[in-house]
Amino acid sequence: MKQLSLPKKGMAKEEVLSLLHSFKSGDSDWHDGHLFGLVYYAGEDVEDMAREAYAAYMFENALSPFDFPSLLKMETEFISMVGSLFHGDEAAAGSMTSGGTESILMAVKAARDWARAHQPEIKAPEMVAPLTIHPAFNKAADYLGLKIIQTPVDGEFRAEVGAMKESITPNTILLAATAVTYPHGMIDPIAEIGALAAARNLWFHVDGCLGGYMLPFLEKLGNEIPPFDFRVPGVRSMSVDIHKYGYVSKGVSTVLYRNIDLRQHQFYVYADWPGGVYATPSLSGARPGGAIASAWAILHCLGEEGFLKLAKAARQATVKLVEGIQAIPGLFVFGKPPATVFSFGSDKINVYQLAVKLKERGWHLHSQHRPASLHLTISPYHEKIVEPFLKDLRGAAAELAAAGPAEPAGEAALYGMMATLPDRKAAKALALQYLNNLYRLKE
Ligand SMILES: Cc1ncc(COP(=O)(O)O)c(C=O)c1O
Repeated sequence: MKQLSLPKKGMAKEEVLSLLHSFKSGDSDWHDGHLFGLVYYAGEDVEDMAREAYAAYMFENALSPFDFPSLLKMETEFISMVGSLFHGDEAAAGSMTSGGTESILMAVKAARDWARAHQPEIKAPEMVAPLTIHPAFNKAADYLGLKIIQTPVDGEFRAEVGAMKESITPNTILLAATAVTYPHGMIDPIAEIGALAAARNLWFHVDGCLGGYMLPFLEKLGNEIPPFDFRVPGVRSMSVDIHKYGYVSKGVSTVLYRNIDLRQHQFYVYADWPGGVYATPSLSGARPGGAIASAWAILHCLGEEGFLKLAKAARQATVKLVEGIQAIPGLFVFGKPPATVFSFGSDKINVYQLAVKLKERGWHLHSQHRPASLHLTISPYHEKIVEPFLKDLRGAAAELAAAGPAEPAGEAALYGMMATLPDRKAAKALALQYLNNLYRLKE
């Protein structure tokens, strides 16, 4: 197998930078709105703000609040502002983390350790969550030794509260739900699940990683958004990602708690290390100052006014795209997406083949399964591409419909096979093998 070693002599800075830029030529170009997820684009001004704020604190390390009190100040101010955005009161507390997955991992750890302190009779803790919950919860359950019980969703792809209630056992410590879900962009019935959690004294976590920085502004703009945050009495913790609809670069999210007593179960302290007392709020040790600075800067730079403007643009683009897709024969959007995330399927053509056809036209949509669909997360910038995208989608769908039923090939066939493989253990083994091959030096 090929192996690389360090270059004996360094290269000129210009040469290295030019190489880096050339590497990008094969990547998805998110600046032109051809990508529907992964990067949340709000235009050049916002991008510049985030970049410059990050650069100003690029090397500072939030591990030591004593050496970098400015980072501590920004972090505590940020948490306070975000706490009030989600209707926590002065008692609300939280931590900044590296992303949604870490925020969720921290909330599940806090819930587990809270249960250890308050319900020591529970030896095999369980969490109940709908099928559409993000896999970060499965990961957290796996890492932290919880059993996860996943429950069905209704015809609108929202959690079925009755099914969640029936799945509660004497070992249940945590209920989790989402606003908005990644696969179909739905808001689970947070108020009902909150009432269930409160009645049973169970921890309830709302995953607002994706919808967090969109829903409060859509609500203020007059859209019908059911309560999804600390206004719901049973909610004890939330995850909200500023690196999604907060338009900053990846590596920053927040986990919020109704109060400090709950948050305390997240912290980790080791007091006997020869290097000193090791006390960290979250999973990471060293934490990038740039992530904190850019998150703080974006709240101040955009303010409520800026967030409202961007939410309006993204929602308008979503409404136009949803209407346009519904009007294409054979295509349908799943449910009535309340925010800026949705997916569509087809009863006439193979959507995985459609994704391939769209890719040939430069559009990158992610394939989903159970049921087969294509995913779109809409950024404010997408308001510029509504018409060209719909035109290409109409063309691609018509082409497939005219060609009639055909056996999918290549990428479409592979995805279809993975999605429908009846033996899910085999699907998992295939995915593991794929990962092993992917993260290997290529010839
Ligand atoms: C609803 C939801 N929760 C959690 C996550 C995980 O966030 P991250 O990828 O930042 O770890 C995502 C990511 O898309 C998400 O959509």
